Amino acid sequence: MITDFPAKPLPLPDPAETGAELAAFGGGAIIPKELRRTVFPVITKEDVFNLMLAQRAKPERVVADFAEAYRSYVGAGYALPTASGTSSLHLALVGAGVQPGDEVIVPAFTFIATAQAVVAAHAVPVFVDIDPKTYCMDPAAAAAAITGRTRAIMPVHVHGLPADVPALRALADSHGIALVEDASHAHSAKIGDQVAGSFGDAAGQSLMADKNFPLGGEGGIAFFKDGASHQRAVDYLERHGIDYGMSWVAAAFGASQLKRLPYYDEVRARNAALLGEALEGTGLFHAPYVPQGHTHAYNMYRITLTPDAIGLGDLPVYAVKEAVHELLVAEGVPAREWQNTPIPCHLPFRHRGGFGNGYPFSLNPEAVRDHRPEDFPVTLGMLDSTLVLCRELRAPVEYERALRYADAFTKVARRPDAIRKLVTDGSYRRPYEKAARLG
Ligand SMILES: Cc1ncc(COP(=O)(O)O)c(C=O)c1O
Repeated sequence: MITDFPAKPLPLPDPAETGAELAAFGGGAIIPKELRRTVFPVITKEDVFNLMLAQRAKPERVVADFAEAYRSYVGAGYALPTASGTSSLHLALVGAGVQPGDEVIVPAFTFIATAQAVVAAHAVPVFVDIDPKTYCMDPAAAAAAITGRTRAIMPVHVHGLPADVPALRALADSHGIALVEDASHAHSAKIGDQVAGSFGDAAGQSLMADKNFPLGGEGGIAFFKDGASHQRAVDYLERHGIDYGMSWVAAAFGASQLKRLPYYDEVRARNAALLGEALEGTGLFHAPYVPQGHTHAYNMYRITLTPDAIGLGDLPVYAVKEAVHELLVAEGVPAREWQNTPIPCHLPFRHRGGFGNGYPFSLNPEAVRDHRPEDFPVTLGMLDSTLVLCRELRAPVEYERALRYADAFTKVARRPDAIRKLVTDGSYRRPYEKAARLG
């Protein structure tokens, strides 16, 4: 029989293990191979039962009921359930009034779908750098990029931390342009008591398998502040004969899972706090920055390295990061880079073939730039000096796993000699010097 039930529980922390030989050099791994898998979402009997009940209802009712339940949870004015996050962003932009040839300001650090949704709306993405602490769009950079043809600013709540919405809202209002959120990482993320997805004039959000609120495969939802924007998006679909509809199976599963979203959010927040405390004790590793009043949803957990804290300040930080990455993976911590170059340096924005003959870029050639990675120094600095935990913290990883991760980071940080050796013997390159990778 195939089962996801773990073969045995993870062992509890043992201080002797953090001083033992590194797994990369022949020691035992902090997390043994057979115990590395985490499973998410958890599917209960209730989920299966709700799916069977939904089959008796009209499919469009199941989808509408899910959208209404989640809209009310988020506190947005209107919702439009979709087949994916990318399509939800497309509709959010259309609803916000973005027209062919308009400019939409997006961060250079995100997933490529943020910018491709702009292209899907036949508009031109204008890329700006990020803030060095939050890794979200830098409001000053956005302000500098505004022209007479800018129609919207689209910040991303990167990894689940809400962007600087007050500053971006003020900027958008002062120019009479729209604020459209990409809330794909930010289910249940908040500023004060307000939930991401309800900040902007419109928002798009992915509900695909890797997200904190996955509907089982693909899914998305667009939110709108007012009825006119919602209607504009609905009319657009009808006028163009586009079907971006959500499957009733996904909606029924989502409606059932929504009841447990606050539970998963609490578990993730608790594990993030636990790990953060342990990281601060290592000197080398630092937890994500969270401004006062913001609630981070921790869809990903980006860890910053400060090599000088363990006597490695003379080495290039990207090389230390690469060495540490190898050591952590050997210990059973599936850390990764998640993006290695600014989004405008990916092929679709270098070649700009668009939908053919360069459309829609050809509608507004003045907005188009031939970007080099160096145009986004804050993004490059962040990519050089950080590592990410992804899937593991999306799942409500059990307490022992969070403790084990903490031990693996502690074990690696205690071995500057090993890190130095790997850097000296290796030939590491800066992240953006490798082939551009999606995710
Ligand atoms: C920031 C961001 N925006 C948009 C998307 C696109 O969502 P989807 O894959 O559901 O189309 C993703 C997906 O990972 C994402 O991370």
